[in-house]
Amino acid sequence: TSVKKIVVLKGDYIGPEIMTAGLAVLEAATRNETFAYELIDAPFGGDGIDRAGDPLPQSTINIAKQADAVLLSAIGGPKWDNMSRRPEQGLLEIRSQLNLFANIRPTKVTSVQIDRSPLKPEYVKNTDFVIVRELTSGAYFGKPRKLEEHQAIDTIYYNEQEVTRIMHQGFKLAQKRHKHVTIVDKSNVLATSKFWRKIANEVGKNYPDVAIDYYYVDAMTMAIMSKPATFDVVITPNLFGDILSDEAAQITGSIGQIPSMSIGENGPNLYEPIHGSAPDIAGQGIANPISMVNTVAMMLIESFDEKRIAAKMIASVDYIIKNHYVTPDMGGVMTTDEVTQKMIAYIKKHELAAIK
Ligand code: NAD
Ligand code: IPM
Ligand code: MN
Repeated sequence: TSVKKIVVLKGDYIGPEIMTAGLAVLEAATRNETFAYELIDAPFGGDGIDRAGDPLPQSTINIAKQADAVLLSAIGGPKWDNMSRRPEQGLLEIRSQLNLFANIRPTKVTSVQIDRSPLKPEYVKNTDFVIVRELTSGAYFGKPRKLEEHQAIDTIYYNEQEVTRIMHQGFKLAQKRHKHVTIVDKSNVLATSKFWRKIANEVGKNYPDVAIDYYYVDAMTMAIMSKPATFDVVITPNLFGDILSDEAAQITGSIGQIPSMSIGENGPNLYEPIHGSAPDIAGQGIANPISMVNTVAMMLIESFDEKRIAAKMIASVDYIIKNHYVTPDMGGVMTTDEVTQKMIAYIKKHELAAIK
């Protein structure tokens, strides 16, 4: 078996703190495994500006294209907010240049997480849905986009091919899950949303085993709160998916737990937590490492088919949540490093037990 090349974009503010944690847990989980990987550090985001003069240096995109997977923590923050090319621009460009048109963001409330949810247990029980967010078009990429002194413009644009491919992605995923797709749009107002819903119906005809329902995005924000357990696969345009996925994350207790994967037609997937660089808590050693551990686990499953190694990592996450060995965002008192060491110790102990 070949050595898997993983490009590591360590990110900004809490980015490096959680990346270190995620990679340490990966190392522990692979200790007695044949899985071989190489970590390739590349400048990106604010770190890209600082080390190489640009949020997405050409060398980084070249290396990413050759990789088996790209692993990112989170980028951005006040240090670079006033630059003309901000870290966030680099993120949009890497998604676009790798053609990562589908972003998969899971919301699952496990039995050990129920008590941490801000919602009552009877509301969150059995919640397990996935947001399929269109990632390389829509409001984020439409032209014209202009910021002038007395006016500004953004454009929401979608073409047939862009909507069709994200719909197929969502329906195929639903076939592997609970065969239920929810289409989110604002088709009572927006032309692009009318188009979105029309193509959803056309594509849906190819998947007669999948049930379809529809929500306007405003009503969907309520439904995520009031009946999250009723959803399976939720297909959204770019901007709505950004917003709804943060809302959905919160019902698990903390956004600091949620991974994501961005996929294209071919080439490497990109894996990243859905949250940002959390400048408000950076440098204090209290960032929640769970999102990064889950992100690495997702990469192991989806890019490398290493389910057993991922299962060890996920079991260690369940263990720390169950025992409340968690950071302040989840109501705990532990540091990032303490939580990470608890996960590593758990993995080691269980391997010893398995060997005996
Ligand atoms: P954020 O997601 O960074 O933070 C929102 C809140 O969640 C903060 O209170 C933060 O402390 C908390 N939080 C997030 N991750 C956490 C973790 N792992 N552990 C504990 N608490 C956590 O959103 P923001 O503050 O709006 O944005 C900060 C910066 O991040 C901005 O520059 C933004 O553009 C950028 N951003 C980057 C990404 C990315 O890299 N994919 C995603 C979102 C935002
Ligand atoms: C995310 C982030 C990004 C987005 C920003 C930082 C460009 O919020 O990954 O959710 O809006 O896509
Ligand atoms: Mn976001």
